[in-house]
Parts: sequence; C-alpha cells; structure tokens
Amino acid sequence: MNAPLPFRSALVTGASSGIGAAMVAALGEAGIAQVVVARRTDRLNEVAKRFQNVEVLSADLATSQGLALVEARIACEAAPIDLVVNNAGFGTSGYFHRLDADRLDDEISLNIRALTRLSHAALAVMVPRGSGYLLNVSSIASFQPAPKLAVYAATKAYVTHLTESLHEETRGTGVKVTALCPGLTRTEFQSVSNTDSYAASYPAVAWLTADEVARAGLRDVASGRALSVPGLLYKGLAAASGVTPRGLARRLSGLVQRG
Ligand SMILES: NC(=O)c1ccc[n+]([C@@H]2O[C@H](COP(=O)([O-])OP(=O)(O)OC[C@H]3O[C@@H](n4cnc5c(N)ncnc54)[C@H](OP(=O)(O)O)[C@@H]3O)[C@@H](O)[C@H]2O)c1
Repeated sequence: MNAPLPFRSALVTGASSGIGAAMVAALGEAGIAQVVVARRTDRLNEVAKRFQNVEVLSADLATSQGLALVEARIACEAAPIDLVVNNAGFGTSGYFHRLDADRLDDEISLNIRALTRLSHAALAVMVPRGSGYLLNVSSIASFQPAPKLAVYAATKAYVTHLTESLHEETRGTGVKVTALCPGLTRTEFQSVSNTDSYAASYPAVAWLTADEVARAGLRDVASGRALSVPGLLYKGLAAASGVTPRGLARRLSGLVQRG
C-alpha cells in the first residue's frame, strides 16, 4: 500500500489536461488544498468543481504577466503552498529549419523560462521555511538528443539538469526537489506537438497513462528522489542512456525518429 501524501497544499501548472489534471485528481482524492494553473479557465473550473479547496488561477505562463501572477501566489505566506509542480509544457515536432521560430520561442519560454522562475519563487519561500517540495516535469527525452523534437529535448535536458542541481543545493534544508521524466504518455501532448503518428509507431507497452505518471511523480517527490522515471521500460532506458556511448545514442535516436 502507498504511504499517504505528506503535502498540505499544492500548486499545479498545466492542470487543465493530461498529467497535470491527473496530479490534481490524485491530490484532490487525498483531500489536499490546491491552486490549479493553466490558460483554459473553463477546464480549470471543471477540475475545481470535482474537489474541495481548489483555487483557479488562469495564467499564460509564456508571458511575463502570467508568470508574475503565479510567482506572487507561490510567495503568499498568508496561504502557503508546500508543493509546487511545474508541469505545463509542450513540444514541436519536425525538422528544425522548417518549424515556426516564434512557436519555438514560446516553447523555450514555457518549458525553460517559466519553470525556472517558478522554481525560484518556490525555493525562495521553501528554503527559509525549512520545508517544501518542488516537482519539475521533464521527460525521458532529456537523456539524449531527439532529432525532429530537437528544441523540446533540449528544453527538457535543461529541466533535468537544473532540477538535479537544485536537488543537491537543497540537500539538508528540509526541501525536496525532483525531476519527473516520463516516457510516452497518452495526453493532449501528441496533438499539440504534432506527434499523433506515434500512436501507430510505438507498441502499446511503450505507453504510460497520465494517472500512473502523476502518482509516480507525487510518490517520488514525497520520498525525496532526485529523478522519477515511471515504468520499468523507461527505468531501463534511462539507465542504458547513462552507459551508451554518446555517438551511438545520437545515431539510434536519429534512426528511431526517421522511422
Ligand atoms: N505526454 C507525453 O508523452 C509526455 C512525455 C514526457 C513529458 N511530458 C511533459 O509532461 C508535461 C505535461 O504534458 P501533458 O502530456 O500532460 O500534455 P497536455 O495534455 O498537452 O497538457 C499540457 C498542459 O500545459 C498547459 N499549458 C500549455 N501552454 C501553457 C501556457 N502558455 N501557460 C500555462 N499553461 C500552459 C496546458 O493548459 P492550457 O492549454 O489550458 O493552458 C495543459 O494543461 C509537459 O511538461 C510535457 O512536456 C509529456
């Protein structure tokens, strides 16, 4: 049986769909108060109705105004948050030179800039408090290059590196910091990133559910792991990527993406 979740209150970005919505469900079922963040207010209101103590915060995290709203909420000591989940993110597939440069810019703003600022806001209150949890959603794609998802994999490499550094920086402070690195998970990610074809290209065994990813991430940040890789297949791949020669990993990744 799983240990009860230790959080008193949580803020989840990207809560309107997929892994974020599954986190909200797991936290809501455990009776944990939450702030849910995304752009689609109607979806957030639907989520809020299902559980008690859910605060809706509509924000576009690719903008400075949206970010400022969420930073202020994390910093609010009158209603403290003790788990921050940086989950909002998206990808763009295709040959780099053919993709829209403004969209790639937005992807970098959300996956890197917003996650960095909100991690900063979280640790700035949690470290002096001597307690708290930060869960940053990265990807299995962070462990090797991913041709045709090049910017996405590069943003996620940043997320894993940053988060592992923060995990070590906060050692002994009472704050726990974890990077969640899921593999293929059925969500709206595939339609947003134009990777719907993956459904036919990858076998059923390669697919995780949003619920299993969300629960693994929450369990692993609660127990203070640096990295959370849901599923045996992806645990094996993550371990293999650490011992595979860089050139070989790059070529294999290119062959898979070309397929
Ligand atoms: N699905 C996978 O295979 C997979 C694998 C590894 C890692 N991940 C990572 O998991 C995380 C969650 O993705 P998902 O699979 O659950 O995809 P999803 O279903 O598309 O959910 C993405 C969430 O991010 C929010 N979001 C997007 N742009 C935003 C913005 N500018 N401001 C605020 N919120 C924004 C979306 O809400 P609104 O549109 O309402 O704003 C939505 O709630 C992402 O970081 C993704 O990179 C996914």
